[in-house]
Amino acid sequence: MRIRLGWKLGLTYLALIALAMTFFGYFTMRFFEQSFIDERKSALFTHASILANNSAPFLRNGNDDAYLHSLARDYGERAGNRFLILDRSARVAADSAKEFTGRVLEFTEIKEALQGRSSGQPHYEPKYGWVLYAAVPVSSGKKVIGAVFVADDINSISKRLSEIRNRLFWFSLVSGIIAFIISLFFGRFLTKPVSSLISAARQIEKGDYGFQVEGTGRNDEIGELTRVFNEMSSKIKLEDNVRKQFVADASHELKTPVASLKALLDSWPAYRKKSDDASELIDDLKHETDRLSRLIEDLLVLSRVENNKNYLKLEEVSVGEMIAAVKKSIIPLAEKKGLVVDISTSDDIYWVLDGEKIFRAILNIAENAVKYSPPSGHILLGYGIEQGKLFISVTDTGPGIPEDEIPRIFDRFYRVDKARSRVTGGWGLGLAITKEIVELHGGTISVESKPMIKTVFKLEIPKI
Ligand SMILES: Nc1ncnc2c1ncn2[C@@H]1O[C@H](COP(=O)(O)OP(=O)(O)OP(=O)(O)O)[C@@H](O)[C@H]1O
Ligand SMILES: [Mg+2]
Repeated sequence: MRIRLGWKLGLTYLALIALAMTFFGYFTMRFFEQSFIDERKSALFTHASILANNSAPFLRNGNDDAYLHSLARDYGERAGNRFLILDRSARVAADSAKEFTGRVLEFTEIKEALQGRSSGQPHYEPKYGWVLYAAVPVSSGKKVIGAVFVADDINSISKRLSEIRNRLFWFSLVSGIIAFIISLFFGRFLTKPVSSLISAARQIEKGDYGFQVEGTGRNDEIGELTRVFNEMSSKIKLEDNVRKQFVADASHELKTPVASLKALLDSWPAYRKKSDDASELIDDLKHETDRLSRLIEDLLVLSRVENNKNYLKLEEVSVGEMIAAVKKSIIPLAEKKGLVVDISTSDDIYWVLDGEKIFRAILNIAENAVKYSPPSGHILLGYGIEQGKLFISVTDTGPGIPEDEIPRIFDRFYRVDKARSRVTGGWGLGLAITKEIVELHGGTISVESKPMIKTVFKLEIPKI
């Protein structure tokens, strides 16, 4: 079961207040009890001590019980308490209420007093309720010759104490409930945006990408979370659109070569009637199948490379050797077109990167340079280190790319001149692959183009 945040908050406050009030209540009650009783006790001690002083001569001179009794009775009447005078053996010589005369009493207070110490303690007596007993020694010189015992009714004190206890209890209960209610509201205030985030997340889960939540203006962590959430939602929508577009484009592009293959095959019966030699048809079939398999291969590379850093096999690579290999790959076609290919640097550089993929990325650019340059142009491959980054550049003297098309040439299936590209056989995937690979390395790629003068593709790769 999910317990709402507001309830959790409320119950926590309730428990905290209960705990605090229990401690507070306990110590306050102890304090009141102590101070009330101490006050009473010291009054009792004063009375008892006076009686002890007055009764000392009579206890000393053989027990004059009758006189002691009248003393106890007088004191009892004056102070409103019950006084007992006991001799050294704890026998009651006089009792202002007469009840215990002659008996030996064993109260702790009396025992203490007979050992020379005054003491007092509250007791609960079923007959009287709460009573306070106190006893002081009666001394003659340094000798203890008896004790004065006094009992006081303290039911009024215990009544006052229980009143205080009640008030404390109700006060705690009410403040606990108020705190609980406040935290319920506060919890709701706190969790409302979280609830709308939850329902927005569910909305996205259902496929409503791009769903936005209100409340981005809040100046706290929840506001921040909402902003991040909305950005994430928009990004998912964008990614989803790119993916959908890609699938649509890929299927569309696949349709063309498959249709040509089918047309070629359909032409076979008519073809056979004209000649026995099928080699021309087979060449055409082979050409189309090659194109198709290149497309599929490119699509596979793209889907594998895309956003998958784990896919990189990093190692220290000789950039000089890599560029030489690129030159070697494009030379046959370039020479056929009468293009000159040069490498601008001779100092080698070693750099940590995925050699195979970066080779592929540069080859895509270099192939474009060959493909799109008119005959007798010049292609320059360069590399070096600039501001701590490795750069590799490919410069050609071809027709270049119009300024406003530059941002789009890295899109999948994008070709500047569809008709021209169709002839040269491109799919518009080369630069998309290059860009993915370079970005996986944390690098960037830029283009500068002056038609027929110089078009430069430059990639930069930071140290990994
Ligand atoms: N050096 C260049 N000079 C002129 N135009 C270029 C150059 N490089 C790229 N382009 C333009 O950018 C487009 C995209 O290039 P990209 O390499 O992605 O695709 P492609 O070469 O058409 O096909 P593919 O590389 O998949 O075979 C090209 O169709 C072309 O119009
Ligand atoms: Mg290309």
